[in-house]
Amino acid sequence: MNTHPTDTHPINTQPVGTLPEREHPEPFTEEERAAVYRCIAERRDVRRNFLPDPVPDAALWRLIKAGHAAPSVGFLQPWNFIVVRDAAVKTALHGAFVRANAEAADMFTSERAKLYRSLKLEGLREAPVLLCITCERDRAGPVVLGRTHQSEMDIYSTVCAVQNIWLAARAENIGVGWVSILSRADLHSILGIPEHIIPVALLCIGYVAQFETVPDLEQAGWRKRLDVKSLVFEDRFGEASPLASSV
Ligand SMILES: Cc1cc2nc3c(=O)[nH]c(=O)nc-3n(C[C@H](O)[C@H](O)[C@H](O)COP(=O)(O)O)c2cc1C
Repeated sequence: MNTHPTDTHPINTQPVGTLPEREHPEPFTEEERAAVYRCIAERRDVRRNFLPDPVPDAALWRLIKAGHAAPSVGFLQPWNFIVVRDAAVKTALHGAFVRANAEAADMFTSERAKLYRSLKLEGLREAPVLLCITCERDRAGPVVLGRTHQSEMDIYSTVCAVQNIWLAARAENIGVGWVSILSRADLHSILGIPEHIIPVALLCIGYVAQFETVPDLEQAGWRKRLDVKSLVFEDRFGEASPLASSV
């Protein structure tokens, strides 16, 4: 059953993404905090079971504004957002995926290759809308505060925008799937992205019948979630942290 709220639903008439009229934001209530953690835990990469229902412009705009609220190195805001709704463009992107995916499948061997070929790794034609998020590295000239010693910080900033969109979408009950199995050259030519601008993410976006509780790749037996306790160190890489045993 399709249970997503319409744009006239009361929750969508709130000024989402705008600061309320007060000088400083108030602390989060327990309920609000729980909602944020729920959103993080229940976000999924979605590339199947998209409903044909269009994503209302107002909801799409809220997602884009969530992206634009992301942190960025030197406040560079290096992103652009390309909204794709044209079926011909979607089909061209799908063709690019098919080419890249055939090459990708050949990089795995035996049982792994067989399993890879059975995975659904994109929803480019089924999703009502796609969003490409790009990074303009020289938006503020060659020297950027914070990027002086680690040049990739502008790309990371763009990924922060992607994650904001992903989480905001989950709160809107909208599924998002990141499709990265396409060549950059195809993305440049299909979407007319200038040479100096980097396509960072291509997202499939749409309402879904349901969100999975376990990632698709885990369900398919590709890879399991790691135990976070084994990933936390203290003071030096590789040194186990007492934090893991104290919680
Ligand atoms: C940078 C990035 C690229 C990804 N590219 C793809 C992709 O091309 N196809 C795909 O099916 N999933 C892709 N994913 C989704 C991951 O497979 C997914 O995040 C992971 O399996 C965990 O599942 P979850 O996001 O539902 O928790 C990508 C995720 C990230 C962060």
